[in-house]
Order: sequence, then C-alpha cells, then structure tokens
Amino acid sequence: MPTIKDVADHASVSIATVSRVLNQSGYVRPELERRVRQAVAQLGYHPNGLARNLRRNESLTLGMLIPDSNNPFFAEIAKGIEEICFNNGFTVVLCNTDEKPEREAAYIDALYWQRVAGFVVVSTGKLTTRLQQLLDQGYPVVVVDRPLAELKTDTVMSDNYGGARQAVQHLLDLGHRRIAFVVGDNYLQTIKSRWMGVLDVLHEHGLDVAPDLLYDKGDFLPQSGYAAAESLLHRPDPPTAIFTFNDLMAFGVLNYAQTHGVSVPASLSVIGFDDIVMASYAVPALTTIAQQKYELGKTGADLLLRRIQGEQTAPRDIVVATQLVIRQSTAHRG
Ligand code: RIB
Repeated sequence: MPTIKDVADHASVSIATVSRVLNQSGYVRPELERRVRQAVAQLGYHPNGLARNLRRNESLTLGMLIPDSNNPFFAEIAKGIEEICFNNGFTVVLCNTDEKPEREAAYIDALYWQRVAGFVVVSTGKLTTRLQQLLDQGYPVVVVDRPLAELKTDTVMSDNYGGARQAVQHLLDLGHRRIAFVVGDNYLQTIKSRWMGVLDVLHEHGLDVAPDLLYDKGDFLPQSGYAAAESLLHRPDPPTAIFTFNDLMAFGVLNYAQTHGVSVPASLSVIGFDDIVMASYAVPALTTIAQQKYELGKTGADLLLRRIQGEQTAPRDIVVATQLVIRQSTAHRG
C-alpha cells in the first residue's frame, strides 16, 4: 500500500506539503499541488486515519505536555508550538500534567499508543527515564523551558541564570539590601539556574541571602506568594524587597500587601519572573524578568519537525535571552 512518504517522494515534495494538499490546510504553490495530486492518482494512495496512525512515521499528530494549563506562561508557549505545527500540516494534542509526574506518565503512554509522530515536553522535571525510553524507541522528543540534565535531546530554555542576575542587580541598584526570595522545589533546573544567578550577584557585592528571608515553599501559584508575603513581612526585620521566581507568586505578594496596608513600591518592592500578559495590568504593574514564551514554543516546534523529517544532527541546547522589564512595583528603598 503506498504511503504518504511514497507520495512525497514521487512528487518531490515534503510530507508536510502532501498533508497540506490532502487536508487543504495552508497555502501550496499550484505547481506543487498538481504534482501531489498526480502522485496520489498514479500511486493509488488513500489516506487512512487509522492505518496512517498505525505507522507512527506517517502520523500527523503531535503530543504536547505542559505542567499547568491555568498558568498563562504555558499557554503562550503552547501557542508558539501549535501555530508552527499546524502551519506544517500537523495537529497537536495538548496534555495538562498538573505538575504531577503520574499524570505526565499516563499522558505519555496514551500518546505513545496513539502513535503520535513526536513530543514537545515542558516536563514536571521528574520523568526523565520514561522520556529516555521514548527516545530509545525512536520517538522524537523535544524539551522546552525546563531542561532535563540527563536527557540527551534537543532542548530550548530561557537564560534563567542571567534573568535572575538582572532581577537582583535591579534591586541592589535601588538600594535594597534586605531582599527576600520566594522559590520552589529546586529539583527543577530552572530554579537551580535562577538561584545560582541570585547567589553570584549577591556574592559579587559582598552580600549573601539572609536565612530569615528565604521562603522555599513556593509552588508557582498565587496562594504560595500570598503565604510567603504573610510570613516574610512578619519578620522582626522585614524585607524591603521580594523577588518571586514567577509572576503568579508575585501577584500573591501584591494581593497580601494591598489587603494588609503595605504600600508597593513605597514600602516594599516586588519583582517577578516570566512577564505573563497580566503582569502589565497588575496594580501596581509588575516589574519582572521577561521570558520569550512564544519564541520558546516556536523554536521547540521547529526542532521537533526537523527530527520528524529525519534530521540526525547531535542534540541542540538553545538558550533564549531574558530581559528586565521595569514597571511600577519596584522603587528606591524607602
Ligand atoms: O510560571 C511557571 C514557571 O515554571 C516559569 O518560571 C517557567 O520557567 C516554568 O518552568
């Protein structure tokens, strides 16, 4: 039975072009479309959803795993992935793992049995072995945002180290020395890199993290930011600035400050990380470190499509720049 790859070879076009012609999705030059239709007729090719998906290398479906579909950070990454894949003739199945490794494993298995053509993964950070098995079985897997040190595969991430350095330098430049940090479990490479950036900048200025100003029960959700602010602002010597390792936790800090009469930024400066769309609409607008979220997703999708089309180069690690965005939530120490 002729395959979609036979049609592509016969017409001297890519699999994605054949898919666009068959699905009428996306523009194809008339000459190429004529060649594809001629090849389909001459070979007697009949696209069959089940038959096609039974042979993974012809599947036009991709699996995308993200840790929290409620967090706009991941939604912007997903948008970049989906747009690139759709424009190349692929559909994407989006799976929310809810930061739970057991859900991540369940989704990987489900997509595996559906014979998806490949995976783009923002991981929970704990399932490297299962992802390595996919790679060993020849499944293309690209990692986005959260690097997995032991996994030898294409990875696209932000400059987390440089971003954290910029955040702390900004607060030091504003005269802050009692700086509090709201971080989460440091099993994630992103957290480790940001923490290294914090320590290096402080040490370069002859400073260190005050033990009473480290809140390490952050979970990237607003409530943990609120709880962090409640704890930190009741210290005998409260911080004059708080750096949270993502924007949602910074919103929790802002909410606590607003409901407890703490003026931001007059009495307390707050800086986040991600620059999700609501950061500029917070009251006051949030100073933060911008990650290029759409670019992270787009680059990850591009790498995956190259692998699906047979590229055999060594795994790539691509680091995307971060940038300090100064708004109204930080100011000179009061
Ligand atoms: O907001 C979610 C956080 O986890 C972001 O900082 C992002 O890097 C993700 O890994």
